[in-house]
Amino acid sequence: MSGHGAPVPMTSRKCAMLKGVANVPGDKSISHRSLILGALSVGETRILGLLEGEDVIDTAKAMRAFGAEVEDLGGGEWRVHGVGVGGFAEPSQVIDCGNSGTGVRLIMGTMATSPITATFTGDASLCSRPMGRVTDPLALFGARAYGRTGGRLPMTIVGAKDPVPVTYTVPVPSAQVKSAVLLAGLNAPGKTVVIEKEATRDHTERMLAGFGAEIVVENTPEGRVITLTGQPELKPQDIVVPRDPSSAAFPVCAAIITEGSDVLVPNIGLNPTRAGLFTTLREMGADLSYENLREEGGEPVADLRARYSPDLKGIAVPPERAASMIDEYPVLSVVASFAEGKTEMRGVKELRVKESDRIDAMAMGLRAAGVTVDEGEDWWIVEGRGFGNVPGGVTVESRLDHRIAMSFLVMGMATEKPMTVDDASPIATSFPIFEGLMASLGSAITRGNR
Ligand code: S3P
Repeated sequence: MSGHGAPVPMTSRKCAMLKGVANVPGDKSISHRSLILGALSVGETRILGLLEGEDVIDTAKAMRAFGAEVEDLGGGEWRVHGVGVGGFAEPSQVIDCGNSGTGVRLIMGTMATSPITATFTGDASLCSRPMGRVTDPLALFGARAYGRTGGRLPMTIVGAKDPVPVTYTVPVPSAQVKSAVLLAGLNAPGKTVVIEKEATRDHTERMLAGFGAEIVVENTPEGRVITLTGQPELKPQDIVVPRDPSSAAFPVCAAIITEGSDVLVPNIGLNPTRAGLFTTLREMGADLSYENLREEGGEPVADLRARYSPDLKGIAVPPERAASMIDEYPVLSVVASFAEGKTEMRGVKELRVKESDRIDAMAMGLRAAGVTVDEGEDWWIVEGRGFGNVPGGVTVESRLDHRIAMSFLVMGMATEKPMTVDDASPIATSFPIFEGLMASLGSAITRGNR
């Protein structure tokens, strides 16, 4: 498991060009939710295309610990036999969510309105992340949380015996917090209402509706108001997980900055709450097109075609777009390094509490590689140096953060000298086939130091 074994250094250097088809894995957000909602249904859910990364596997193990049957049928197909809403059993062991903030926060929400107690832990990254944002609203349902100072893991949640429904305005733009409250609301009688001022990824709302819950979403001047009627009987589903736009970001950005490249990334969900990076790249002048645009399972889907784009311009990314590309700022900052002019990224305070402080992690590595970065608490600006002008030639820290590791490996494809990441093992949390897939496109990523 990432962060538990010996570090795996990787080095990325210039290659001739990237060409071919990049079949990226299933969507991480939808994979977690498929397992959890499957576990809460009465009967058998089938999932095709589940992301088999460490984060999601940890959620599968957790669902087993709460009493659901979860079986890997092979070839990306999984079967979940659920216990029904309110049917969770008390786990006999500590629940280890590894590196996954989504896993732990969604599962805490799910169990918080059942009369059971569970203790959660994770790796060093997850144990440093704030959980108060989830345990505060869960307390309103009647659950109690006992964690380390600052609301950190390891943490024990004592579920509410007689949960009450709540109305909660999410104070930070976070789909994890919104989802934890909705999942808790499933086992509370009456209507639970969640209000979010800024729209965040809406997979939980869409999937709850798909599993047969009564859920109404209204767009009001105060924001999105989501009303869920508690204690439904969820009906098992056959789910086809779309490919992950956040993983697609890496081959797309690699192609954009690597001379002569032309890469097709098929079947990528373009749900507007997730697709902000692609809009931003196009505004910067990237040669990125949507082919075969269609609807699948109620979501817009396209094949992305990315080609080398030598005339990139820095832009000011609109802050209101932040939630729709929150996981993509690290790799955007890499592309911005090769653009002409400054790329301004504002309204991104949440980047400081991800798997690492992503502004700090990227700024340190970019500066070491010769790029000027200015930063404040909720903003950062990357001064592009243009193609052929980014020195590289350094070793950077991945800080137990998969997206930091992948971003710097993408960067090494266009820096003058190779880029080394001190530990690439965290990549297995979300994109276990990254190394092989990038190699099949023609990248020059090798294990070891420069
Ligand atoms: C996720 C929500 C986001 C995102 C994470 C996945 C989800 O986190 O960064 O990778 O699946 O709900 P926040 O809710 O903390 O913004």
